[in-house]
Amino acid sequence: MIEEMNIIDVLLIEHGTFYLQFEHLEQTAPAIEQLGELQSKVSMLAAVLPTHARLEDELLFTALEPHLGTMGGPLFVMRMEHDQLEGLLGQLPQLEDLDQAKDMLAEAITVARQHFGKEEQILFAIARQSLDADTLNRLGGEFAARRGVASSHGGIAPCGTPGRLPNQQESRGNR
Ligand SMILES: [Fe+2]
Repeated sequence: MIEEMNIIDVLLIEHGTFYLQFEHLEQTAPAIEQLGELQSKVSMLAAVLPTHARLEDELLFTALEPHLGTMGGPLFVMRMEHDQLEGLLGQLPQLEDLDQAKDMLAEAITVARQHFGKEEQILFAIARQSLDADTLNRLGGEFAARRGVASSHGGIAPCGTPGRLPNQQESRGNR
């Protein structure tokens, strides 16, 4: 049972797992000679990173809107970058040229690293100042629940909750 989970800490831990994926992809992509193999390697990142961005947006960014506004400013920029990342990773499976796919993967990793850096150095510091501990913990519990992790705040997320992978929903539904 998870008692307290600050959403900023949850997001930082997920960033850490994405950094590992970026490094692994950067190490393995140069030697790949088949487009399908590259696309298969990227599929995990393409499935998980957009759900990270959507949950962060729905939970943390929405809570910050009264403090930061939505027109211009950091939330506007962060949401634009989420769209850019989702677009790059969403286009990759449709490409028919290996070099183009490698370039697009490299661009997505660059954009993601810069985006995470801005969040870690600026946005998360603003969030810790703007939102109280109870709110950050409630949002962390909601984030965990939406990921399917048992939590004192939300328990197991119901099937069909946005931000979950389809196979997770199916496997829970079959229990
Ligand atoms: Fe983000």
